[in-house]
Amino acid sequence: MIGKICGTGSYVPVEYMDNHELSRTVETSDEWIRERTGIVKRHIAKEDTTVSMAVKAAKQALTDSELCEEEIDLLIVSTISSNVILPCTACEVQKEIHAINATCFDLNAACTGFLFAYNTAQAYIAAGMCKNVLLIGAECLSTLIDWKDRTTCILFGDGAGAVVLRAEKGNLYRTVSCSDGRKGTALTCDMGDYIKMNGQEVFKFAVRQVPEAIAGVLKENNLKEEDIAHFILHQANRRIVEAVARRMNVELDKFPMNLQEYGNTSSASIPLLLDEMNRQGKLKRGQKLILAGFGAGLSWGASVLEW
Ligand code: COA
Repeated sequence: MIGKICGTGSYVPVEYMDNHELSRTVETSDEWIRERTGIVKRHIAKEDTTVSMAVKAAKQALTDSELCEEEIDLLIVSTISSNVILPCTACEVQKEIHAINATCFDLNAACTGFLFAYNTAQAYIAAGMCKNVLLIGAECLSTLIDWKDRTTCILFGDGAGAVVLRAEKGNLYRTVSCSDGRKGTALTCDMGDYIKMNGQEVFKFAVRQVPEAIAGVLKENNLKEEDIAHFILHQANRRIVEAVARRMNVELDKFPMNLQEYGNTSSASIPLLLDEMNRQGKLKRGQKLILAGFGAGLSWGASVLEW
């Protein structure tokens, strides 16, 4: 069995901050941020929390899936920014949406979190442990940002994306999934502190490892670049996406982006983009997509998704 996406949803706070506004609080400029990152604005939660955003995205995905909440038997939230340490965000979401039959847990693999959660869901389905999975990536990163640090505050944003996976007959694709804790100091957030990052190190890591992971997952599944309709990369930075496309020698228009609107929303970025593309009618049944994630840990990987 394989988990097929049968519903998507997303939510971002209505409030946002554009580069011009940001440049009034730290020494930066719209031009610098656009040129180095491609980001134009980011949505920032005022009233919303990680749980409330996750709930809104989840409700949309459930409606789109035409499954009812009682049919969900596994609910995973990927997040690094839960409201509280206990209970986990997934249990809080369960309570709000009445998914009473679901096993619930959170997963923290930073910006690779949604990818690893997707792989986890596929493994549960393949093992016959569940049938219908609600997968959510939700982040309120604005609470983990030092708004006086121009090297990080320009990059991140808040939001949530969700997908519902339903078990169907089919073969499981092999994945490429990697972590290297020895390089963890490149991107950290201590308890009670803010996100700190060695930007250049993370940049170099991403442009080296992501093309390698994608090449690996294609090989593992006997696929070629031309078999893939869209390469859905974690939305961290336009220059990273461009460098990956260039290294792979694949045209950039196969790499959809929405980071200009939302900034880096960590584990929410991939489901946010999937939902946007789904609603725009850009995804067709049977198409093969590649999901690729990378981030703190360091962790990275790539998986095949058959739409
Ligand atoms: N506005 C203006 N200047 C800035 C700035 C900002 N927001 N942030 C840094 N600078 C300055 C630096 O102080 C430095 O000045 P100096 O030359 O006088 O010392 C100069 O710009 C260049 O800094 P540098 O850090 O070398 O810039 P960069 O080209 O590496 O770009 C990032 C910085 C963060 C955009 C880039 O490293 C990056 O995209 N890294 C990956 C980050 C990422 O995606 N992380 C999440 C992965 S999940």
